[in-house]
Amino acid sequence: MKVLVIGSGGREHALVWKLAQSPKVSKIYCAPGNAGTAALGTNVAIAVEDIDKLLALAREAEIDLTVVGPEVPLTMGIVDAFQAAGCKVFGPTAQAAELEGSKAFAKDLMRKYHIPTAAYAVFSEAVEAQAYIRKIGAPCVVKADGLAAGKGVIVAMDLNTALTAVTEIMEGQFGAAGRRVVVEEFLVGQEVSLLAFVDGKHALAMVPVQDHKRIYDGDLGPNTGGMGTYSPPPVFTPELAAEVMRTIVEPTVKAMAEEGREFTGVLFTGLILTQDGPKALEYNARFGDPETQVVMLRLENDLVDVIEAALEQRLDEIELTWSPGSAVCVVLAAGGYPGKYHKGDSITLPTTLPEWGTILHAGTSLHQGQVVTNGGRVLGVVAKGQDLPEARARVYELVEQVQFKDMFYRTDIGAKGL
Ligand code: AMP
Ligand code: GLY
Repeated sequence: MKVLVIGSGGREHALVWKLAQSPKVSKIYCAPGNAGTAALGTNVAIAVEDIDKLLALAREAEIDLTVVGPEVPLTMGIVDAFQAAGCKVFGPTAQAAELEGSKAFAKDLMRKYHIPTAAYAVFSEAVEAQAYIRKIGAPCVVKADGLAAGKGVIVAMDLNTALTAVTEIMEGQFGAAGRRVVVEEFLVGQEVSLLAFVDGKHALAMVPVQDHKRIYDGDLGPNTGGMGTYSPPPVFTPELAAEVMRTIVEPTVKAMAEEGREFTGVLFTGLILTQDGPKALEYNARFGDPETQVVMLRLENDLVDVIEAALEQRLDEIELTWSPGSAVCVVLAAGGYPGKYHKGDSITLPTTLPEWGTILHAGTSLHQGQVVTNGGRVLGVVAKGQDLPEARARVYELVEQVQFKDMFYRTDIGAKGL
């Protein structure tokens, strides 16, 4: 079969890498892709928001299955458009993707269905939000309702920061995404990402992952799109995972069906493990980045089988199997990221790769046959091992074999789990 993956990041290279191992897959397209996906298939230069062109590609190239990476085309309705045209596609409809597209929708759903989450209120007037903040005090969390490329959340440790955040969000810093704000109770605890395959009815948990969002070692500095991941985080015991499936993930899937917004695709729940038990911080309606990089490294099933089962609402027949031990992903960023950084620098990569790991491209492109940097997060180096110390030792050994100008990475990915 012919498969199309939509997106251009490390997540998409991980998906392409995994799909390429399926005996069922004969050809892979990626739109728009990066230098890593180009080595495994055919990149087609179509932007992820250009749904008409993507659909035309799926028809012309006779694609049998499309897998959507990023949230923007999902909330725009790419799945609805493909389904209407009779093209097989894996991901939630626009109505179901609201779980990620609107934080107010997600919070109201959690409240209605008694899903554990932070206390909150939603406002469409700045003065009202600010009056509420003065009442609850700091610390608190201020969030733009809509998609803001991961930048719409301000964890305010003092009153002034919270009040200013409201003004900035509502004065248009995030465009329409900031027409409403959600103000939340500040929760304390370790964060875990739990992704699940969902078929409208059943949810099949993947292995849990811990992301490292801050730029510097020790979780210091500004937030990024994610500087690295590891799986499994020991704090998230199998017992906790079962509790989260029972109290958060399965009720969410059921709630969406009851609301007439049946969810099919990957449901990513951002969790915080508080003293009062695990709570949902947010949902994403897609594979996570860089969570997917370690999850795909560990998944032993044929991904096509799992996706086909999800599309046929028979995930209850699938058992996922995972490599034992641990896996780690270290993101190699361009100096200056998440602020200003340079693009177009050539990248030196190892000539041979070990069987325990690989290098997944994110912000890379090909320039006259040479792989060059093309984004802030450039590569994700992944490795697995029989335990976390071995996976960490291996991943950093592989990192040493990569070079580009001003390359920067965290040296403590997974250290929290030791
Ligand atoms: P979100 O996109 O909603 O997951 O928020 C991004 C990040 O902000 C999370 O990964 C947390 O680190 C932090 N955050 C969000 N909501 C809360 C909360 N209620 N309490 C504490 N931290 C939060
Ligand atoms: N790693 C967080 C995300 O994919 O949004």
